[in-house]
Amino acid sequence: MAKPAKTYVCAACGSVFPKWAGRCEACGAWNTLEEQLAPQTMPGGIKPVGRRTGAKIEFVGLEGTSPPPPRVPTTIAEFDRVLGGGLVPASVVMVGGDPGIGKSTLLLQASAALGRAGKRVLYITGEESVDQIRLRAARLGLSKSPVELAAATQLGDILASLGQFPDAALVVIDSIQTMWTDTVDSAPGSVTQVRAAAFELIRAAKAQGFSLLLVGHVTKEGSLAGPRVLEHMVDVVLHFEGDRGHQFRILRGVKNRFGATDEIGVFEMTGQGLAEVLNPSALFLAERRGNVSGSAVFAGLEGSRPVLVEIQCLLAPNPGGSPRRSVIGWDSGRLSMLLAVLETRCGLKLAMNDVYLNVAGGLRVNEPAADLAVAAALISAASDVPTDPQMVFFGEIGLSGELRQVAQAELRLKEAAKLGFGRAASPKRVAGGAAKIAVPKTLALVELGHLTDLVGVVATGQKPGRKEEQE
Ligand SMILES: Nc1ncnc2c1ncn2[C@@H]1O[C@H](COP(=O)(O)OP(=O)(O)O)[C@@H](O)[C@H]1O
Ligand SMILES: [Mg+2]
Ligand SMILES: [Zn+2]
Repeated sequence: MAKPAKTYVCAACGSVFPKWAGRCEACGAWNTLEEQLAPQTMPGGIKPVGRRTGAKIEFVGLEGTSPPPPRVPTTIAEFDRVLGGGLVPASVVMVGGDPGIGKSTLLLQASAALGRAGKRVLYITGEESVDQIRLRAARLGLSKSPVELAAATQLGDILASLGQFPDAALVVIDSIQTMWTDTVDSAPGSVTQVRAAAFELIRAAKAQGFSLLLVGHVTKEGSLAGPRVLEHMVDVVLHFEGDRGHQFRILRGVKNRFGATDEIGVFEMTGQGLAEVLNPSALFLAERRGNVSGSAVFAGLEGSRPVLVEIQCLLAPNPGGSPRRSVIGWDSGRLSMLLAVLETRCGLKLAMNDVYLNVAGGLRVNEPAADLAVAAALISAASDVPTDPQMVFFGEIGLSGELRQVAQAELRLKEAAKLGFGRAASPKRVAGGAAKIAVPKTLALVELGHLTDLVGVVATGQKPGRKEEQE
């Protein structure tokens, strides 16, 4: 057999290259490429192809009944929502996120909850000492919860010990980057080690039937292999996000073999740990101040749940040079498009301004439905007229400035009415188009056909009506 070719893998993003380079071509990180033998080599190596022996596999039709996977609810509703109803036995969940964001806190709380529900839970820490975890448990008021705790990093020890607990329902590994196995001789934290360790743990989870929760730090300088290199190996990938300056934390599904991936769980970091936020809209709007220009409320949707957030925009004159576009929580390409459409179709002069756009509360919005709210905030900032504090906005904007309908208008309107809003600006429904939507009684729908209508509504507060296009 030919000697396996050397390849190089990026510790940050997992891309594989035939040659070493100082900078990863895929993600741009510096000094993250490290050598690995034969691509995707798992412990045991790759078997040569072309074998003709082996047991015969059975093929079946597409129709048939298999029961849905059983679920073990963690009883933390926001966590279960993102998981798709709870932990699936023998499945592997990776929770990634920046250091200090609250991963250990969340998993300790979930462990304790599951323990109190009568399940056997093993929590293995490779980062902190037993005393540190106990201190955290005491602070969270969880000291009495039945969780079995150990500090270990050597995988051989861990696997042998896990074998003693055939009834384990959940095993937490905090974090996968601290685990090492002597079946490969790379340094702990390297791509090879992290993959090998994860592979062996996953095999144990499948064989023994426990749910495995892996913590994965998102790395800064690529000194540790990032969770990206493990994403294809695990069943569920969750990202724990948030702004360190805010107390909100968002658990987001990125991959889920057993459920939808667009669900979020919302938490608030408190002295007593992570508190579930059952009404995120109220939280995201809590700091909103009325009567300030450059702000608009977006009636958004995260997974199956409506979420109202405030879009803030600041324009600062920048007569010389190239103006800045700074965006937090939204797509910067989308902002450039909106600015161009506002200039070309509505005659708004924004080119000589720095534009700062921010989604308040640290939420990241991915929906094109936010176009209308962003445009409203921009128009409001440009004209220095506050938007109607009673109004929410949603709708997609096309290149000619036309407004397009978005999914789940009813849900958005209901949430707005629930939060006490009286008006909703949204795209005009096409005559004879989609089915009628139920508009809450306390809410007036302001239907707009074109972006110029929005300028009318925001900048002058006048009644909407299509004006002549300035072309
Ligand atoms: N004594 C404390 N009181 C209140 N909050 C604390 C305390 N200690 C830690 N925290 C919060 O917990 C966070 C650390 O959470 P942790 O679960 O250790 O994060 P991770 O595991 O993601 O690195 C800190 O950033 C802080 O917000
Ligand atoms: Mg931690
Ligand atoms: Zn990379």
